[in-house]
Amino acid sequence: MEMGDEEKINAAKGALEEVKDGMCVGLGSGSTVREFIRLLAEKVKKEKLNICCVTTSFDSRMLAIERGLWVTEPDAISEVDLAVDGADKVTKTALLKGGGGALTREKIIDYNAKRFIVIVDESKVQEVLDGKVALEVLPFATPMVLKHLSKYNPRIRMADRKLGPVVSDNGSFIIDMNMKVENPEKLEQEFNSIPGIIENGIFTKFDSIIVGRKDKWEKV
Ligand code: 5RP
Repeated sequence: MEMGDEEKINAAKGALEEVKDGMCVGLGSGSTVREFIRLLAEKVKKEKLNICCVTTSFDSRMLAIERGLWVTEPDAISEVDLAVDGADKVTKTALLKGGGGALTREKIIDYNAKRFIVIVDESKVQEVLDGKVALEVLPFATPMVLKHLSKYNPRIRMADRKLGPVVSDNGSFIIDMNMKVENPEKLEQEFNSIPGIIENGIFTKFDSIIVGRKDKWEKV
């Protein structure tokens, strides 16, 4: 087990309590959500639940299918009852997401769910959002978007085990900018108004945050 895994598992356990038979569950992305997917699959098997899942990345989709969960596509369902997703940083009012490059599909599923629960370990909690703001951009528009955002020192996210940029599950590029986000709602709108940007990783709509600690979880 790696450092911080217990916290992630405890956060996932907190969200698991919200899952009820017959729900359609939106599965976010990232290592904390991976713990949730593992636990959800066990619960579904043990309690013989009827749960359908929609996923926000190939990563979550592959794990959910491997664990035997029923996975469908968002366009095949009319609504998501509960979305469970991780975050890179959280405050009481906003999140930074996109560390795994899945922010666009995450925002679509999370914002359209009847309830959206965020699961994080305690290292993610901040007073003021400060970290990497991720943007998903259309590849051909990237130079124009970079120029537009030059005051934020934007950088194209580069791949580790492939030449060139990270290509998202949607075939787009990701731009990262380090910053303190004093007014998340305003910035979330502002970034999305720039042509070429598909979505940004500032999230300001969610229902609750479950923080995993070493031996328990807490709703904040
Ligand atoms: C992916 C995300 C993830 O939810 C975020 O990066 C948190 O991941 P982890 O649980 O591994 O820390 O936004 O785009």
